[in-house]
Amino acid sequence: MSTNLRDRFPDDFIWGSATASYQIEGAAKEGGRGPSIWDTFSHTPGKTLNGDTGDVACDHYHRLNEDLGHIADLGLDAYRFSIAWPRVQPSGIGPLNQEGVDFYERLVDGLLERGVQPVATLYHWDLPQELEDAGGWPARDTAYRFAEYAEHMARVLGDRVHTWTTLNEPWCSAYLGYASGVHAPGRTEPASALAAVHHLNLAHGLAGRAIRAELPGARLSVTLNLHVVRPVDPGSESDVEAVRRIDAIANRAFLGPQLDAAYPQDLLDDTAHVTDWSFVHDGDTDMACVPLDILGVNYYSTKQVRLWDGSGDPSANDGHGNAAGSPWVAADDIEFVRPPGPYTAMGWDIDPSGMTELLLRLHREYPELPLMITENGAAFDDVVSDDGAVHDARRVDYVRDHIAAVADARDAGADMRGYFLWSLMDNFEWSYGYDRRFGIIRVNYETGERMWKDSAYWYRDLIAGRAT
Ligand code: NOJ
Repeated sequence: MSTNLRDRFPDDFIWGSATASYQIEGAAKEGGRGPSIWDTFSHTPGKTLNGDTGDVACDHYHRLNEDLGHIADLGLDAYRFSIAWPRVQPSGIGPLNQEGVDFYERLVDGLLERGVQPVATLYHWDLPQELEDAGGWPARDTAYRFAEYAEHMARVLGDRVHTWTTLNEPWCSAYLGYASGVHAPGRTEPASALAAVHHLNLAHGLAGRAIRAELPGARLSVTLNLHVVRPVDPGSESDVEAVRRIDAIANRAFLGPQLDAAYPQDLLDDTAHVTDWSFVHDGDTDMACVPLDILGVNYYSTKQVRLWDGSGDPSANDGHGNAAGSPWVAADDIEFVRPPGPYTAMGWDIDPSGMTELLLRLHREYPELPLMITENGAAFDDVVSDDGAVHDARRVDYVRDHIAAVADARDAGADMRGYFLWSLMDNFEWSYGYDRRFGIIRVNYETGERMWKDSAYWYRDLIAGRAT
């Protein structure tokens, strides 16, 4: 076999990088942008590390041209970005804010001029605050508002944006936002979290259909953070049962309605004491199951579980931060045991084999569905060396090993279409603020200056077929 990793992929495989609006744009009060739940949350004392907010972030809003230059210089085939809903529709309802639309037009046109394919995500967590005030994702109406917003965006950008992603990681929106409370809006209401799960699924289907109606030729996708959950002891029946339960609430709660038009019965049974699921109306799961052209997969690490013995905090080692509540709705008798290292700066284990395992599971269960890694990458404690550079060898290793894991999945039959590295540049890592750096480009938050880390040079060379 060739030692050149790039040679393990076909020429039409898409090499990209990803970001998200609230994490990079800044300009939170400019251009007619309305407030989002992340503005409110990050400005609430104690919610983010060091009280960091996305007010300025990477100032990408003002540095658009410079960032487009980096994207072009890396030789990316595609760039995955998200549209800030409150920038284009400030209160989440009503007419579009043209100044906000103009920004995304400049971004999309700038990408196309440079020969880079835009991949647009409609929702990467910045819900207009007014919609949260009206109930947020636990309220059904939010799904209808989202579909209208999607239709608007398809109309204004659809002549230039071919690939559309409805939601990014709805698991986080529902469970971290409404159960554990470590993400905006910071609510700790298990029943509301399950209602949010459903309305996100419904929103995906409604929006997907709106996009299809507006743009029959569009490539439609959704991005899920599916969890690779393993039993602490594969020989223990109760550990295997713990895996089943987490798989139901974390993975099949989204895969079921979106790909099979039904919630799994075991999920409904497991959560019956939390909610009666009466928020699921007739026809909803058929609506959620809109045919997809691509399933986007975000993968970072794995999880290990067993039944909890009653001591300590069972979710302390789940990798999702210290929280007022547990994101594992109806599963607080399941304990997360930290998988063996090594770990990234997030405390997440590094295990590329988990990625291959996940991709092959999806290939087995949905053999016709093309797959794309829409995020993969790592935060490390980067050091600026005396020579002024960031020699982030561990990030290079992480990315190389995970791309090899994608190649392994391809070799075993998975229909892999692309890989997007998270992230193009250091950015606002949600409740961890600017403390955790995922970028292949370093951002100096004092000056706004961008500087390529070794990983950026390596990725550029990989795409060009020069790196091994
Ligand atoms: C997934 C999320 O989509 C992204 O916003 C986040 O920064 C990365 N994971 C890293 O945690």
